[in-house]
Amino acid sequence: MNIIETKNYEDMSEAAAGYVWLRLQSGMRVLGLATGGTPIGFYERLTERINTHSHSLKDLTTVNLDEYIGLGAAHPNSYHVYMQEHFFKHVDIPPQQTYLPDGKAASPEKEADDYEKLVTELGIDLQLLGIGANGHIGFNEPGSPLDGRSRVVDLTEETIEANARFFEKEEQVPRQAVTMGIGTIMEAEEILLLASGAEKAEAVRDMIEGPVTEEVPATVLQRHPNVTVIADRDALSLTQ
Ligand code: F6R
Repeated sequence: MNIIETKNYEDMSEAAAGYVWLRLQSGMRVLGLATGGTPIGFYERLTERINTHSHSLKDLTTVNLDEYIGLGAAHPNSYHVYMQEHFFKHVDIPPQQTYLPDGKAASPEKEADDYEKLVTELGIDLQLLGIGANGHIGFNEPGSPLDGRSRVVDLTEETIEANARFFEKEEQVPRQAVTMGIGTIMEAEEILLLASGAEKAEAVRDMIEGPVTEEVPATVLQRHPNVTVIADRDALSLTQ
């Protein structure tokens, strides 16, 4: 695992944007994306670089990690809208080359199976990840199989509480999601994980130093041959 420590959130975002920018310039084909609070600054800075250099993304395909079940693509709290607002609408990527699971699919289980097939067929060059305070990656909560495929999952109370900040009321946070599985994520050629803030420090320490365990899903990344972690000082404060 290659660990890059930055001073703060802004520097983490800048370093991550620089990292992905290099990959885009060298013709990366399929980029796996994440949502949540952590990558917002990264998307801002990456967009700036892309537009300053008039770099076209017409040959790029993106696949997101997850989507809430029950939220349609136009719902303000859906990850579809998040991606539009923070990235897609600012660049020239063709909409038909941006994939997220459909949160309103009639059968979420079939949607997850179809998504798994899509991701496996595309093959991810670089997967961006955040990390939950409980060590989740995507929506693979503690106890998820380390070789799991894309599927329907129940969110833990901890994750529902953590994500309530994006909703008006906690009751509005969906209880389920479709997520890429850990096994699916591990098949990406390269992984870039971002972490910021003291509330992530324990999970980050376990991911880097702890034993590999389903109880902290991110620990599985120790088994991937090409992982870079860009984390700020606070997130790395408990790591040796
Ligand atoms: C988002 C995702 C999640 C988040 C994680 C951290 O697509 O899959 O695993 O990366 O919950 O979220 P933030 O960045 O809001 O702390």
